[in-house]
Amino acid sequence: MAAVSLRLGDLVWGKLGRYPPWPGKIVNPPKDLKKPRGKKCFFVKFFGTEDQIGFLGLGLMGSGIVSNLLKMGHTVTVWNRTAEKCDLFIQEGARLGRTPAEVVSTCDITFACVSDPKAAKDLVLGPSGVLQGIRPGKCYVDMSTVDADTVTELAQVIVSRGGRFLEAPVSGNQQLSNDGMLVILAAGDRGLYEDCSSCFQAMGKTSFFLGEVGNAAKMMLIVNMVQGSFMATIAEGLTLAQVTGQSQQTLLDILNQGQLASIFLDQKCQNILQGNFKPDFYLKYIQKDLRLAIALGDAVNHPTPMAAAANEVYKRAKALDQSDNDMSAVYRAYIH
Ligand SMILES: NC(=O)c1ccc[n+]([C@@H]2O[C@H](COP(=O)([O-])OP(=O)(O)OC[C@H]3O[C@@H](n4cnc5c(N)ncnc54)[C@H](OP(=O)(O)O)[C@@H]3O)[C@@H](O)[C@H]2O)c1
Repeated sequence: MAAVSLRLGDLVWGKLGRYPPWPGKIVNPPKDLKKPRGKKCFFVKFFGTEDQIGFLGLGLMGSGIVSNLLKMGHTVTVWNRTAEKCDLFIQEGARLGRTPAEVVSTCDITFACVSDPKAAKDLVLGPSGVLQGIRPGKCYVDMSTVDADTVTELAQVIVSRGGRFLEAPVSGNQQLSNDGMLVILAAGDRGLYEDCSSCFQAMGKTSFFLGEVGNAAKMMLIVNMVQGSFMATIAEGLTLAQVTGQSQQTLLDILNQGQLASIFLDQKCQNILQGNFKPDFYLKYIQKDLRLAIALGDAVNHPTPMAAAANEVYKRAKALDQSDNDMSAVYRAYIH
């Protein structure tokens, strides 16, 4: 028999008798499990669900998420404002919803991942929007990165119609979304968080439950504020190296050997050195997140001077037409 090597986090399928195949993940065994001595054994957590899943917003993030939901055996109904983006997923086995309201009314749990606070509100409150499909027991999970006020308003309207609400923004990028390795920050209805377990297993490597609605939005903005400021600092260092006659490649080699070494630092520098600014995380969205994080600090009189400085550089990059490039194109704001 061929040897199979498994690692924690690997996804597997199990088949028991005449039951349909069910997805699972290799996890640490429970502490009290009595394992056969001397035998290497794996512990599989089966996580499938029979809930009907809806998904609204097939952008960079939503596309990877929906592919992984389908791969892990979920029944998914999709809708996107630009309808053609649904075609690929219909070929992969998804069902098509004609409006957000129709998706919500035909599904048990509907997820959404759209660009910004305005889009998140339009989707729920607009004509044939999510709210039109909410009835008691319907579940809505907003995965967009927005501010706490927006998500609180959405939670209130959904709950006022008898729906259940969870916010679940994600940390990651397009590649991590495709790989099902996002980090999910959730807050709101704890029961719904647990009901989403199968979906979160398919799309993410881990998830955090952070309490009441608004907490995940705040935490997400803080995470992205750190990431966005770091990216601007990397660009500043690389350009300063260049104008002072230092090798940018050597700067990267030195950073990679030090304590700042990370996949993020290495990938973003490599992309800059190759002049590759294909979006993995749109520059316009990291600038939106910095702007919202600064407003968060503003609301509690907490200084955010580093984020404010980084935000100015991203604004300059946007003025240079870099919005739809990767956030690493902030580099171009330093070239004069
Ligand atoms: N990309 C990343 O690395 C990353 C990482 C973490 C978090 N995020 C967050 O995840 C969210 C989505 O990001 P993304 O990269 O997937 O964005 P994206 O590729 O630009 O996709 C945006 C999606 O929002 C839809 N949309 C925009 N305005 C809308 C409106 N008024 N009504 C309905 N739908 C609307 C778009 O529809 P159309 O196709 O019709 O334009 C598209 O499906 C953002 O909040 C972003 O900050 C992104």
